[in-house]
Amino acid sequence: MSPKSGRVVKPATGSSESPVSGELVSAREFWDRCFKEVAPDVKDAPPGRDLSEIVNRLRAASAVDVLDVGCGLGRWSVTLARAGFRVLAVDVSSEAVRIVRERAQREGLAISTAVCAAQELSRPGVHVDAVVCNSVLDHMRPHDADMAATNIMQTLKPGGLAYVSFDGLDIGDTGPEVRQNYRVAADGTWEYVRGPRRGMIWRYYQDPEIRRLFREFEEVEFSVWNTGQRRTWFRKPIRDSHPT
Ligand SMILES: C[S@@+](CC[C@H](N)C(=O)[O-])C[C@H]1O[C@@H](n2cnc3c(N)ncnc32)[C@H](O)[C@@H]1O
Repeated sequence: MSPKSGRVVKPATGSSESPVSGELVSAREFWDRCFKEVAPDVKDAPPGRDLSEIVNRLRAASAVDVLDVGCGLGRWSVTLARAGFRVLAVDVSSEAVRIVRERAQREGLAISTAVCAAQELSRPGVHVDAVVCNSVLDHMRPHDADMAATNIMQTLKPGGLAYVSFDGLDIGDTGPEVRQNYRVAADGTWEYVRGPRRGMIWRYYQDPEIRRLFREFEEVEFSVWNTGQRRTWFRKPIRDSHPT
């Protein structure tokens, strides 16, 4: 992977401007709207948590190239690039990617960027040592999350590490005022139909579902935090059914 190229990730079908499903169109619209409304000081804010454990683990694995799937404002990408990793930051939102690209240029960071949905990561050309995917798969329905996990597998080099987090059920979110803003689809996905999150989807993944998504990986760690967040590390087997 070249940090300068920005062309190593391409949609599997069509261009990033012609998404494969109506679901992706809606996701792009929702997240673009969010990122357009972000205040300037929020854009440069640090990650919401200390990432030294992530950095240490990636260093221990001798990772060089790291793919940040669903990079958002690039908080993780920036921290990882400052720690010396070459980062490829991708997101379904072109607005998010624009923000990250501008920041990387401004700060001279080794971050390349691409507008790309996790479901569209192509196989050839992208081979990274590690993937980070923080609070992203929760915004997908199960079949999309499954596709994303498969793509992460195909993007990783054999033995590569994936850090993937899933959020917990936030008590505040299920209060009556918020609850009236979403409906629950047959597959358990929350579809926000009014309020500030209108257009967003979110799904609480049960622990067994997470393990099923990453069934072809070796589980390295699966920790549950008091917020309900699940922080997981998976490793691509050295010999697997998806050779790179
Ligand atoms: C809660 S934010 C997390 C952002 C970032 N990972 C972080 O931790 O700061 C969710 C992110 O996932 C992105 N996203 C949502 N659906 C996506 C998809 N199908 N493919 C790639 N990115 C997606 C959104 O645009 C947004 O940036």
